Amino acid sequence: MSIENYRKAELKKVISALLACESLLIIGEPGIGKSFFLQALTNQLVKDDYPHVVLPMGTVKQIMDTVGKKLAIDPETIEGKKKSIYMMMDDVINFCRSHPTIFIVDDAQRYPPSIRLWLERLMLEVNCPLLLTATYPPARDIFLKLPRIELEPLKDKAIREIMKEKATFLEITLNNAQLAKLQASTGGNPMLAGRVVKEHYLGIKSEGLDHTQWIDGTPYLMACLMLLVIIRFVGLGLNNTSLYLLGGVITTIVGVTRILIYSLPKKGTRLGQ
Ligand SMILES: Nc1ncnc2c1ncn2[C@@H]1O[C@H](COP(=O)(O)OP(=O)(O)OP(=O)(O)O)[C@@H](O)[C@H]1O
Ligand SMILES: [Mg+2]
Repeated sequence: MSIENYRKAELKKVISALLACESLLIIGEPGIGKSFFLQALTNQLVKDDYPHVVLPMGTVKQIMDTVGKKLAIDPETIEGKKKSIYMMMDDVINFCRSHPTIFIVDDAQRYPPSIRLWLERLMLEVNCPLLLTATYPPARDIFLKLPRIELEPLKDKAIREIMKEKATFLEITLNNAQLAKLQASTGGNPMLAGRVVKEHYLGIKSEGLDHTQWIDGTPYLMACLMLLVIIRFVGLGLNNTSLYLLGGVITTIVGVTRILIYSLPKKGTRLGQ
């Protein structure tokens, strides 16, 4: 099944930036299509025969070994000893001085800090174009320095096509009403588009709209507290002691309940809990 790419305009823009030796960070919610985008970009670079390296995931040593191999850098010193990780890092930087290479790093927030620092050196010292993706990039080091592009939700038409493709793959048919109903819970997220069709296929009724973050109820609680304080003042103004007392008591009860709820033990974060 060949998957149609629905982000051709962004792809063109990113490729021209990289060819102009500009580095970029692509961000977006989980499943929005960052890895898919990088794959399409890599395919294009292979087609155009442009030198690039896709950083593998692994230990620092494994990463540097793979990069060294890809760039045909001798893993041994002149004396025949195996180069250290730091020697390898320096050699790659020196190599890229004379051989412009695009470095592609998916889920960059998962890489060790030493690799991120080395990527930063590649960018700053030899002007090597980097293309990083991150789901929720931490506000530090390379993530702060790179210009970022946020992948927007896909258009309704594209989501429909992805859902239809998934339905064909699962050998089921969905009518327009079913498609429209399922589409409403995807929020333009292609991963969710695939998931809702799978859930439909499995006969699971999914109610959760999980493409959005939880709504924070604190402002509403604060607004209620303010209202109670106003009741107290009204009571004071009307010289109505019971209204004044009632306002005070309810405010205190709400305040204490809030403190108690916040101090409850949080859900376990260990595996299996
Ligand atoms: N432009 C697109 N056209 C068609 N399908 C897409 C597109 N983008 C993503 N998809 C599909 O959506 C699913 C999720 O995409 P992908 O894995 O790239 O998301 P992601 O942002 O990398 O997620 P994560 O944050 O979990 O790494 C994949 O199955 C992919 O095939
Ligand atoms: Mg991904």
